[in-house]
Amino acid sequence: MEFLTQVTAAGGTAKLVADALLLVLVGGAVPATLDAPLADSVADAVKLGDLVLKPGKTAYLRQVPGVKAARVAVAVAKDGSARAVKAAAAAGIGLLKGLGVKHLAVQLAGVDAVSAAQAEALAVAAADAVYVYRTTKPSAEAAPALAKLTLLVAKADAADAAAGLACGAAIAEGVALARELANRPGNHCTPTMLAAEARKMAKANGLKIEVLDRKQIEALGMGSFLAVAQGSDEPPKFIVMHYQGAPKATKGGKGAQAPLVLVGKGITFDSGGISLKPGEGMDEMKFDMGGAASVVGTMRAVALLKPALNVVGVIAACENMPSGRALKPGDVVTSMSGQTIEVLNTDAEGRLILCDALTYVERFKPAAVVDIATLTGACVVALGAVHSGLFSPDEALAADLLSAGQAALDTCWRMPLDDDYDEGLKSNFADMANIGGRPGGAITAAMFLKRFAGKLRWAHLDIAATAWKSGAAKGATGRPVGLLTHWVLSQAK
Ligand code: BES
Ligand code: MN
Ligand code: ZN
Repeated sequence: MEFLTQVTAAGGTAKLVADALLLVLVGGAVPATLDAPLADSVADAVKLGDLVLKPGKTAYLRQVPGVKAARVAVAVAKDGSARAVKAAAAAGIGLLKGLGVKHLAVQLAGVDAVSAAQAEALAVAAADAVYVYRTTKPSAEAAPALAKLTLLVAKADAADAAAGLACGAAIAEGVALARELANRPGNHCTPTMLAAEARKMAKANGLKIEVLDRKQIEALGMGSFLAVAQGSDEPPKFIVMHYQGAPKATKGGKGAQAPLVLVGKGITFDSGGISLKPGEGMDEMKFDMGGAASVVGTMRAVALLKPALNVVGVIAACENMPSGRALKPGDVVTSMSGQTIEVLNTDAEGRLILCDALTYVERFKPAAVVDIATLTGACVVALGAVHSGLFSPDEALAADLLSAGQAALDTCWRMPLDDDYDEGLKSNFADMANIGGRPGGAITAAMFLKRFAGKLRWAHLDIAATAWKSGAAKGATGRPVGLLTHWVLSQAK
């Protein structure tokens, strides 16, 4: 989709040529600044009761006299916050579904100025609304035709709005890619297929990529990752993507700028292994590569935005399956770090693949490492689907991630990591067990990872509840691509 701004003077809205106009009304009144023909029609709609001036309410107006756009969708936003504007825009665009609108003009009425954050939120909302999963359901109604969005702004706001739209457009691309990959069923998104998609993205965006196969993973000594993979006939893949936005090493001998590193959990299907999950809802464990999908999506967004820093995206991808060769409860595995792990539950597999990935990324001497994983059901219980779980011993890194989440409307909530939580990981047969008790399960999982993040500036995002939705709207959300992209951008400033 193309995102543009157009500067309008009074009367410009009415004269604009577009298939539809989305009018977002901020606050509880028809703003005095609205063009006369439009203002009259909106006032009429209110009088008739077609439009209620309350947050979330919408109305559809056809062939408004004096307005060139044949369709007008009106949506009321609670206030001028990016969050409220996004919600109203999503509702308004919903009214236009299936109408074949190719060019949508958007006006924010009732605000003093259009901000970058509002423009970004609009772009993300519009792109989100037009995504349709069709890969294994070609009969699904094709994506709405929306190809162009023009945001009407005053001259003074044009630069901010354009910057916001560009940022939103890039995030939207990353979100759509993450949603698409995560939505694909396990048999259409094996580790091999995921690696092929990552390669396709990297090639299309000028990123370097390496895909390590089982032999190379063995040579690295990733005994914990391989132990999870061994129950499946699908070979594991270890994917490493490089975005180079900062200058390479200088002649003076100064090294290349330390990269930011993203590490994604890429379990393309989590059956639980020998500690088999119950059947109900097990299909949703195809989404267990949501962390990996968000890394691919974020690398895509970053490649579009070209910040002046380096980013490495790493994915450990495999299936977690039961078989005659599968890892068993009680087995002890040796991680790449040399630490041994007693596997008390083969369903706690995410941490077993991430620990080796964390050891692997030490070689990049990262400025910071963030792992992203659909790691625990306990995090679903703790935070629900509103915030992702954030765990980090580093105050500054945690603060940066929290504010990136707020800026992106893709929030996280900080959870504790006190040493006391480490107690439960003790084992008589290895350096540690792979599970603590049920209480504080999201935290003990993070404590397990912390044992492998020793020398790194590290944070962990548990996206078990935020990466996808269940029920009638079952599908991937693309979270936390927005958060991660904002975080990367914030580190370039
Ligand atoms: N992928 C799951 C976590 C998960 C469960 C995400 C439900 C979203 C919804 C993970 O591999 C897992 O199975 N975790 C176990 C850990 C337990 C055995 C300590 C869990 O949360 O039940
Ligand atoms: Mn599991
Ligand atoms: Zn899992």
